[in-house]
Amino acid sequence: MSILITNIRELLQVRDSSISKVSGKEMKYLPTIKNAYVLIKDDIITDFGSMNDCQNIFAEQTIDATGKLVLPTWCDSHTHIVYAGNREQEFVDRINGLSYEEIANRGGGILNSAKTLQNTSEDDLYKQSIKRVKEVMQLGTGAIEIKSGYGLTVEAELKMLRVIKRIKRDFPIEVKATFLGAHALPSLYKDNKEGYINLITEEMLPKIANEQLADYIDVFCEKGYFSLDDTDKILSAGKEYGLIPKIHVNQFNTFGGVALGAIHNALSVDHLEELNNDDIVALQVSNTMPVALPSCSYFLSIPYTPARQLIDAGLPLALATDYNPGSSPSGNMNFVVSTACIKMKMTPEEAINAATINGAYAMGISNMYGSISKEKKANLIITKEVPSYNYLPYAFGDNHIDKVIINGKCI
Ligand code: NIG
Ligand code: FE
Repeated sequence: MSILITNIRELLQVRDSSISKVSGKEMKYLPTIKNAYVLIKDDIITDFGSMNDCQNIFAEQTIDATGKLVLPTWCDSHTHIVYAGNREQEFVDRINGLSYEEIANRGGGILNSAKTLQNTSEDDLYKQSIKRVKEVMQLGTGAIEIKSGYGLTVEAELKMLRVIKRIKRDFPIEVKATFLGAHALPSLYKDNKEGYINLITEEMLPKIANEQLADYIDVFCEKGYFSLDDTDKILSAGKEYGLIPKIHVNQFNTFGGVALGAIHNALSVDHLEELNNDDIVALQVSNTMPVALPSCSYFLSIPYTPARQLIDAGLPLALATDYNPGSSPSGNMNFVVSTACIKMKMTPEEAINAATINGAYAMGISNMYGSISKEKKANLIITKEVPSYNYLPYAFGDNHIDKVIINGKCI
């Protein structure tokens, strides 16, 4: 099946396929073609260019995109979209004055979600989760990373990862799976952290590797959760099973987790609401992608990741949703891009780069996703008629999406 999209007002993020991420000043540049076309064959972008060069190109289907923009689908490199139930009561508790930490200390937070998930069947968990997966695809997400970490027992962590595997099998969206057994200390181990870490490294990891359930390993490296030593141990064990590290780090405190991620050659370090100069220096000598999660900052009313500081230090930055029931019950990448512009002072060009090519890098898939490049996957957003790409983050409450194409098919 071939599709030709014609008369595109502006085609965004056209790149040579060898570019895997953009950093520092390069992030201010978003390469585009005005009055453009794109040709798709099956699930691949085979050609694109100016309408002036489109005379002899034919396809089985033509889509006229007069007045519309076309851009690559969003690459959401950090989500916990597989979860059971919700936590709207904690939301109300926070409105009434409790902090995220206080709620967690009372047995709420991650442990609350884990209890619900442990009591939910695999089929029910799958059903609850795919509802959200379908929603984010409609919102323009074409590739997504999904973490475990609301199981916290051998059985429940495997249940989560099996659901992620089923989503990967059943949906056209590209899925990467991350094992986050070290998300919180389950109550059963509250006085025996070493015991839980052993459970992760000696029981969970071999089973996960055996069933090939994960690509990445993640740890919530934070005061009251997992220390630098714990994180080091868990990431090292994961690497023995071929899992590439990622870390939740610097959400509330900065104490060397970023440097540890860099030493482990982590693919990404995520959150970074708190950041100091040592963190910046550690990132400057690494290939690790910093990832900001503005909807988490918005929802919890905590600081935003200092994007300007990172980008002005020559670093790359990716944007993701952190979709989860506790700190970001939204998987809307359009909102993330807007919020990055409004609250983090990223330009629209920087935010779009961060949510496409750099997000793809943070999932290890920028060879096939994240830009309009020949031979990359045909994953495209066609917007409604809009005056310019600046309008997308500007009119923050509207849905600007007309069509989403994933793997060459309109969804
Ligand atoms: O990325 N910070 C740790 N984990 C999640 C939130 C977990 C929760 O509250 O359920 C996050 O924000
Ligand atoms: Fe997270």
